[in-house]
This record gives sequence, C-alpha cells and structure tokens, in this order.
Amino acid sequence: MAELPAHVTAAAPTVAELPAHVTAAAPTVAELPAHVTGALRRLPAPVCAYLYDTQALRAAAGRLRAALPPTTTILYAVKANGHPIVIRTLARACDGLEVASHGELQLALDAGARRIAFGGPAKTDAELAAAVHAGALLNVESTHELNRLAGLGLHADICLRVNRPGPALAGSHTMTGTPTPFGIDAAQLGTVLTGIPPGLRVIGFHLHAVSNNLDGTAHADFLTEAITWSTATAAAHDIDLRVVNAGGGLGVDYLTTASIDLTPLSRVTVPRGVELIVEPGRYLTADAGWYAAEVLDLKTTHGRTFAVLRGGTHHFRLPAAWGYSHPFTVLPIDTWDRPYPRPAVTGTAIDAVGELCTPRDVLTRNQHVDSLRAGDLLVFGRAGAYGWDISHHDFLRHDPPEFVLL
Ligand SMILES: Cc1ncc(COP(=O)(O)O)c(C=O)c1O
Repeated sequence: MAELPAHVTAAAPTVAELPAHVTAAAPTVAELPAHVTGALRRLPAPVCAYLYDTQALRAAAGRLRAALPPTTTILYAVKANGHPIVIRTLARACDGLEVASHGELQLALDAGARRIAFGGPAKTDAELAAAVHAGALLNVESTHELNRLAGLGLHADICLRVNRPGPALAGSHTMTGTPTPFGIDAAQLGTVLTGIPPGLRVIGFHLHAVSNNLDGTAHADFLTEAITWSTATAAAHDIDLRVVNAGGGLGVDYLTTASIDLTPLSRVTVPRGVELIVEPGRYLTADAGWYAAEVLDLKTTHGRTFAVLRGGTHHFRLPAAWGYSHPFTVLPIDTWDRPYPRPAVTGTAIDAVGELCTPRDVLTRNQHVDSLRAGDLLVFGRAGAYGWDISHHDFLRHDPPEFVLL
C-alpha cells in the first residue's frame, strides 16, 4: 500500500471511513412480510439466501403503469435483476424489456418479451446483428456504431442516444450533461444526423440521465422536457419522431422507507403519434427482494462488535459500492442445540460483516441491536435491485446463496 501513488490511495475510503448512517429504516421483525420470514425459517442452516417475491414485482409494475400517462411503454431494465423468473414476471407485467448485452438479450428472448430495446456504449458486431435480427429497438451511441451497422448490411429503425448539456436530474450515476461515454454529445448531433447511412432510419431519441432520482416532480419535469426537446430537435432535422425514450432512474431511498413519489408523472403529456418509453430497473425490483444471512460468529475487537455473516458483499455489493450502511432486521432463531455457549450481545451497536478476507466486506456499520446471537439471521430488505447482479460472486469461492422465489 505504501508504494501506491498518493492519488490512487487517496481516492478510496476505507470502510472505517464510510458514514455510519442512521439506520432507522429497518422494519421490525413483526413488519417483515410473513411469507418472507416463513420461507427463511424453512431454509437449512447456515442460511444465506436471496428471496424474490413475484407478486411484489407485479405490484410495482402496476403502480408505475397507473401513474404514467396511459400510452407509456414500460420496458424493465434487466440489468437491475437478471434472474430468469424476475425477468419473465416483468416481461409480462410490463410491455417488454431493456437489455444491454448479448446475454441479457438471450434472457429477454427466453422470457418471451414482446418488446426489447438494446442499449449500451460498447456493442460488438455480433450484438448489433443479434439485436437487429431479434427485432429489438437499438439505441445507437455513436457515428462509428452507425457505420458498423451499415457495414454489417443491417437495416433498422433506430433511436440515437444523446448526451445533452445542462443538469439533468438529481440522483446517482449521472450520464448526461457531463463527460461520459454514453451517447452522442448534443453539440455533434447535427453533424451525425446529416450522415445517417442508407438502411438506417432515426425514429427517436434515447435520453436516460441518472439513477436513483427520488424527486417525482423533477422526474415528471424531465419527461416533459425530454418530449419537448425531442419534438423540437426532430422538427429541426426533418425527422418523423416516433419514440422518446427517457430511460430509467426512478429511485428508492435505502436509508429511509421512502421511494420516489410517482403521482406527478400523470401530468406528463405525450403528443399523438409519439411513443414515450421508460426503462425502470430499480423501482420495479428493489422492494421485491430480500437478502438474508446467518450470523456465524459474534465478536468484539478493539471496542467494536462484529456480526460475521454467512454471506457478504460478494453477494450484496450495493452498500459497499455506494458507501452506505444498509439497514437490516434481526430475525431471531431460537433453536440452539450445540453443547457450548451461544455467542450473544444485547443493547449494542454492531457492524454486519461478511465472510471475505478483507476489512471492506461490510454491509452495515454501527446499527443498534436489542439482542443478537450466533445463529440469528440478518435480513436486508430492498435488496432486489443491483444486489446479486452487481456483486463479485467468485471472490473466495464461497457457496452462492439460495435463490427462493415467493
Ligand atoms: C440505459 C439505461 N436504461 C435504464 C436503466 C435503469 O435505471 P434504473 O434502475 O435507475 O431505473 C439504466 C441503468 O443504468 C440504463 O443505463
């Protein structure tokens, strides 16, 4: 470590430096859904599992559909959770799926998706061809990608992904209004549009801006502005505008029980002849997933108490990746049939850490527990989006979690 240049070592906080957030959001054990606790109590020890609730997925899709203007097309962004049953459930509950790789495209086809949009800044020739042959709507990200499509002899109606200037939305992972590899700089759009190769027809724009926006009014304004901008840009360039794809970004607050208020979305007006597409991932799946891990050991070192789990960030990387403490609920397991004392703590703050050989394997810092024993389970809610799918599963080669579909 000492030999690393300062600009490298200075960039990454140690886990000890991560904020010890308020973790008031964790439900009490009585507030956990009974079918979740029931399923967890039936699992063999040591418990380590993701639980996905298909009814909760359908309910989230229903809430979103009810909130959006009636003609809006909802394509679930598969990257949030690529479990085949999650995908199949949402392919039916939504209008289709948004994919960003050959693998996701295959999952979408296997799920019988009626509509597919294919995006991403690094498509291979094979992916371009597979997407067009599958009838997916391509979100094209550069002039070179246009030329490669033409070079492959592919004919298609396409959307252009545009990185527009100015602040987009509050949230994380900002992709527009700032230098990013995503889309065509709006300043270059005029030039790009004059050189669309034969066989390709631009029918709209893709304008995904951020992740995890929690402001419903701002999101409604963003949709309206995306439509206004697309209409004006299409008119200026003699494009017959058919599609405005506003991407995803509807957020949930991991530190409270709040989610984005969808109510303002209903006031967005979509012009006749234009299809508004949205590509939500997190909003549809976050609350349909729980990650649960058994406490294998409890120990106090240098004044800090650790619950060491059968699991960790290699299954649920989101808190470590985003630098927050993910709230958990203790599910007490009363059975203890070992001949030696059961490690236990009462009325103290603990850190929930994983089974990896690194001090960065931390899911939660400093959450108060009334009582916790080895053998109890920690249940992390809101784990259905960007949980398993973004995690480094193979590090240390522990067994994967069980996947339980409710
Ligand atoms: C192009 C695109 N569409 C949709 C999404 C889904 O976003 P979210 O899960 O925030 O709704 C993403 C996420 O990165 C994306 O890059």
